[in-house]
Amino acid sequence: MSDIHSTVKYIQSQKPNFTPRVGIILGSGLGALGDEIKDSTAFPFSSLPGFPTSSVAGHKNQLILGMLGNMPVACMQGRIHSYEGADSSAFKTFIRTMKLLGCEMMFITNAAGSLREEVGAGQLMLISDHINFQHRNPLIGPNDDEFGERFHPMDNAYDPKMRKRIHDVAKKLKIPLAEGVYMSVTGPSFETPAEIRAFRILGADCVGMSTVPEVILAKHCGLRVAAISSITNLGAGMSDESLSHTGTLHYAQIAAKNLSALIIETLESLHHEPC
Ligand code: HPA
Repeated sequence: MSDIHSTVKYIQSQKPNFTPRVGIILGSGLGALGDEIKDSTAFPFSSLPGFPTSSVAGHKNQLILGMLGNMPVACMQGRIHSYEGADSSAFKTFIRTMKLLGCEMMFITNAAGSLREEVGAGQLMLISDHINFQHRNPLIGPNDDEFGERFHPMDNAYDPKMRKRIHDVAKKLKIPLAEGVYMSVTGPSFETPAEIRAFRILGADCVGMSTVPEVILAKHCGLRVAAISSITNLGAGMSDESLSHTGTLHYAQIAAKNLSALIIETLESLHHEPC
């Protein structure tokens, strides 16, 4: 039995008769939503073999199982990033744990810089597609046929029906919601202004240091994905503000209020009418 299977068995033994349907990953400064989960059981990542602890400020580093918007969820309050030295096994462990626990879909959140002047700090952008500028793929190496096939498609990686549902909910809640292509870089340095200009020409609408390894692995094992960026700044060189992680956390917290409302209401809507 692989380590992932024993981790899943351990989680299930601590929360019997509970099957999460939706996996959630909360990015930098966005952990507050985890505190809204009812009937919750929390597992510090340090208690789960293969779950790496992020050293980045703004990540609580625990997996919470419980109810959110009437939906049974498994929520990661914090995540590891490629720039922390995480290798593909770390990403595989937590995405495949979600799958084996019973999740059918994932809500992934992150903090990102906007490449569109009209979408500023504190706003939300639904991800429609991505460009993988991390120049690595977490599936390199032997394929694990238990989870998916060797070559898998990445069109519609960001599930169109879930995107439509999230737009409908945003409209109902009067939450402004942009949509665009996420450029994934490794970080940890922010970009140069020249890189930002290049990314705009390449067709990106926002840029961030996470999410893509998780989305590739989720799609590989048949999880449907929705991902939302909380915009914490305009890309380097697009404004006079210099970029910092403190700024990222500050604006992520401003966006978090709308993000939490949007996710909870979407879960509520999926509970009433699956899509
Ligand atoms: N670039 C990369 N990652 C980010 C940014 C950015 O401008 N803002 C928040 N995360």
